[in-house]
Amino acid sequence: MREGRTMLAAALLGVVVAGCQSGGAPVDLSGDALARAQVLTPKDARLASLYAQSCKACHTVADTGAPLAGDRAAWEARFAKGLPALVQSTVGGLNGMPAGGQCFACTPADYEALIRFLAGRDPA
Ligand code: HEC
Repeated sequence: MREGRTMLAAALLGVVVAGCQSGGAPVDLSGDALARAQVLTPKDARLASLYAQSCKACHTVADTGAPLAGDRAAWEARFAKGLPALVQSTVGGLNGMPAGGQCFACTPADYEALIRFLAGRDPA
């Protein structure tokens, strides 16, 4: 019984990881950007909690295709689209990113703050 659950959890994780990998965005694979992404967290406690449960799973893992948290250069072209467009693609999903970025409790204001944080602009 326990083993069955473990296998189910492993299978579900596989689906999530496979979903992450379909994004085609250029990603900075240098160790610096990756190491920095992995230690960054929003200052605000509520946002930090939302982030830990959703965005972080992909935006701190190089081979998901997600632009890394705090990697300003990787976010340059995306951030130029403007926050409303970025909120829209997060809410609607984009290639490897599922609709809502897997954050079920995020409000539009939370998305804006989290996107600014991810893009290395005005951290949340
Ligand atoms: C399951 C993995 C996954 C999760 C979870 C995730 N993202 Fe993403 N995100 C991606 C991938 C992959 C891309 C690159 C998509 C592409 O351009 O092909 C991306 C791109 C983005 C972009 C750029 C969109 C654009 O229009 O260029 C924003 C903004 C973003 N994510 C915000 C978030 C936020 C905020 C969260 C948490 C609430 C989040 N993501 C959670 C995988 C994820």
